[in-house]
Amino acid sequence: MNSTPRKGNVAWQSPSNIALVKYWGKHGRQLPSNPSISFTLSKAVTKTRINYAFDAVRRDDIKVDFRFHGSENIAFKTKIEKFLNSVKEEFDFLSFLNLEISSENSFPHSSGIASSASSMSALALCLLDIEKELNNAEQIDFVKASHLSRLGSGSASRSVFGPLAVWGKSKSVADSSNEFAIPFTGAYKPIFETFHDDILIVSKAEKSVSSTAGHALMIDNPYAQSRFNQAGGHLTEIITAMETGDLEKFGNIVEKEALTLHALMMASDPPYILMTPATLSIINKIWSFRRNENIPVYFTLDAGPNIHLLYPEAYAEKVQSLIESVKEYCEDGMIISDKVGQGPIRL
Ligand code: DP6
Repeated sequence: MNSTPRKGNVAWQSPSNIALVKYWGKHGRQLPSNPSISFTLSKAVTKTRINYAFDAVRRDDIKVDFRFHGSENIAFKTKIEKFLNSVKEEFDFLSFLNLEISSENSFPHSSGIASSASSMSALALCLLDIEKELNNAEQIDFVKASHLSRLGSGSASRSVFGPLAVWGKSKSVADSSNEFAIPFTGAYKPIFETFHDDILIVSKAEKSVSSTAGHALMIDNPYAQSRFNQAGGHLTEIITAMETGDLEKFGNIVEKEALTLHALMMASDPPYILMTPATLSIINKIWSFRRNENIPVYFTLDAGPNIHLLYPEAYAEKVQSLIESVKEYCEDGMIISDKVGQGPIRL
């Protein structure tokens, strides 16, 4: 590393993503128990800016100045400091930096939308941009950014790439790895890049069991091994469905993945349920709309009650009546209309 004292600032916008085949269960140091694939989103993003000063004195305990939407946020600051201290041996340059970090999300803070994928990937991209500046390197290494993001939050590893990303070793995806995500470059049909993801906010409340706690409960889940095998098979099948343009097969796998995720929660010890009656009402509405109208509109869920409504752009107008009919189940009628996106942007 060039040791000339330097300072500067960097800023990145990084999106959230929605898994089609879910990561649920991990081992070792943030290593996934099965491979996953996701759509990278475009509107649900975190913007992170860092003012940095490099001062050549090693800090044993990394501390940062942190602002979220302009205000102090002790919970997020603590999370960031814990993360930075956990990766400082691997990313040595971090111990020499004085960091002022400010961050904001495009989606409402209390919308029940988890921000760890967008926030951790935006942070990792900023940090590696600083490393790039310190090393006078030409470009930032996105694979390394995905690796660093993963150490912050597993799903964040996939946000570094768009429009689709795969994380976790799979024989169906060349160069896939448990250590980082890669862009999915299979010969999938273009329609999959036109997908909408309307997030129906059933509840804005913070979920009662965090994803991190949920992953941990997979260790003793009696269905864990068959689930991991199933996810591997689903990844292979969904890739084929995307290559042949088989929307029905695609949607079938996506919905099975969502319901299996929640079934695993219900089969954990202690068991828990994150879906609400409104979640189930909306699922039933989607199913009957699809049956009656013969429109390829599907749902998925992350680790919470909110529904992600997935459908290709070509059906956007027709899906409006479904959206109108489920609004009554959304808290304050809140719906975040998102779409598949291209990945992070340097600001
Ligand atoms: C259900 O990535 O939030 O959204 O690695 O503990 O930060 P940590 O968990 P996280 O888990 C995401 C779980 C999921 C499925 C997915 O995104 O693949």
